[in-house]
Amino acid sequence: MDDKRFAAQYEEYRAATEAYLSNLFADGAADAAWKTLYASMRYSLLSGGKRLRPVLTLACAHLGGLTDWRDALPFACALELVHTYSLIHDDLPCMDDDALRRGKPTNHMVFGETMATLAGDALQPEAYRLIAEAPRLDAHAKVAAVAALAWASGADGMVAGQVLDLTDYGRDRATLDDLCARKTGCLLRAAARLGCAAAHAQPELQQALEDYCACLGLAFQIRDDLLDVVGDEATFGKPIGSDREEGKTTFVDLLGAEGCAREVQSLTDQAIDALCGVDGAAFLVALARRLARREK
Ligand code: IPE
Ligand code: IPE
Ligand code: MG
Ligand code: MG
Ligand code: MG
Repeated sequence: MDDKRFAAQYEEYRAATEAYLSNLFADGAADAAWKTLYASMRYSLLSGGKRLRPVLTLACAHLGGLTDWRDALPFACALELVHTYSLIHDDLPCMDDDALRRGKPTNHMVFGETMATLAGDALQPEAYRLIAEAPRLDAHAKVAAVAALAWASGADGMVAGQVLDLTDYGRDRATLDDLCARKTGCLLRAAARLGCAAAHAQPELQQALEDYCACLGLAFQIRDDLLDVVGDEATFGKPIGSDREEGKTTFVDLLGAEGCAREVQSLTDQAIDALCGVDGAAFLVALARRLARREK
């Protein structure tokens, strides 16, 4: 797939996601005493993320055979709500203590720690509400989606990864792989599961898409660790050197910059290999290649 077609397809998924998200929490609680909570949630939800996880969900639903991929938007955006909550909490002083996200002050810098914590709290059940109330998907798909999102973000998933990341435990290659598979890989794998749930995709297709997303997730986090060292703050939108400042051992410490680049390439190749039996996967192939050289 050439660059132009890839960009147009990504933009179609991204714009649909953006439009759906911008309608959330828009006029609720306008006169309520807790309206600041809504402002805090919308601040982070609509601050210009790449929307990678919902784009993956929609692309997987599309590939899985959903007649209109837009029907999967509530599932895709549920995942983005959970991702957004994870970022708000990740930036808190008790976690990574970061002041910049997507080129803007982090949630707690604007709304304070209490409101930032509560905005993250509220985004989680609201995600499950989106799934439960999805107008054009059936109960079977919704139950699978709830299970997938709970698995990915729960006590053995993303939160387990955050626990490992924020506690002092040995970091050899195997433990760092496990940490990243949980902290980042699980939410990407959830994108495949949610898209396939929406489409009632065949199990073989779901397995291939999940394998693709798992490799993509590791490559994505290694590239993130690298950009935390060699990235440009204005482009990356996050502080450079944050991991070092927090005393983290990352892939850069373990592999060096060139080793990280090689590993990203190898995982990208593995991601693409996982799609070898999948028809119509050109967009996902192009996406993996694009992410391997991302700067933001
Ligand atoms: C940031 O994810 C957290 C990591 C897993 C590295 P993204 O880089 O997808 O963040 P946004 O949503 O585009 O800001
Ligand atoms: C975050 O990893 C993964 C989450 C679960 C939020 P990082 O801490 O490296 O993400 P950034 O660099 O702050 O986006
Ligand atoms: Mg972190
Ligand atoms: Mg962080
Ligand atoms: Mg990082």
